[in-house]
Amino acid sequence: MLANPIFEAIKSRRAVRSFEEKSVPESAVQMMLEAATWAPTAINMQPWKFTLITSKAEMKKLSDLAKPALLRSLPDVGDPSIMGLKQRLTNPLYNVFYGAPLLVVVSGAKTPYAVNDCTMAAQNMMLVGYSLGIGSCWIASAVVVANEAKVKAELGVPDDHEVYSAVIFGYPKGGMPKSPEKRAPVILKRID
Ligand SMILES: Cc1cc2nc3c(=O)[nH]c(=O)nc-3n(C[C@H](O)[C@H](O)[C@H](O)COP(=O)(O)O)c2cc1C
Repeated sequence: MLANPIFEAIKSRRAVRSFEEKSVPESAVQMMLEAATWAPTAINMQPWKFTLITSKAEMKKLSDLAKPALLRSLPDVGDPSIMGLKQRLTNPLYNVFYGAPLLVVVSGAKTPYAVNDCTMAAQNMMLVGYSLGIGSCWIASAVVVANEAKVKAELGVPDDHEVYSAVIFGYPKGGMPKSPEKRAPVILKRID
């Protein structure tokens, strides 16, 4: 099969949770933001807005708010993954942003499809970031609290907007992590 750079990037990108102490250059940030704005969008609404955070203190503040909220939202079951997450969330050293140098919060007007639009915009940022050697990880843990009025105000998100995604970026420490096992697509039916 012919080499296909888009397919290769999609296959090689990994969730990165360990970062070099090196900031993401402004040129890369601008390219990722521009890539976000080229995402498909329902009836061309382009609802996305971006909040960029490089302050470690701000990220710690958000992480400290998110951890107990997330803990409260988890069901009381003996599932090992949930138990592992609960343990991490009670560790004072655990930061939901993993010490990343950049956090991008994507919000948008509350239109019926803004969640889809903003998700695709975030994915574009992650793939272009990957092509520049920048690792990323979607942090749903942060979205739990990002829509609280006080947090939205702090993030510059207007009242009539909603936060849909939060993604961290930075140069991966020790390269890209190994891929988790990916299951083959399940085709339920073919209707020819
Ligand atoms: C909607 C969504 C929410 C996620 N939230 C978190 C999160 O809060 N914390 C985290 O460490 N990873 C989070 N991830 C990353 C996933 O755990 C990761 O993508 C998954 O394990 C597959 O690994 P891969 O991206 O390397 O293929 C999230 C991913 C998605 C798509």
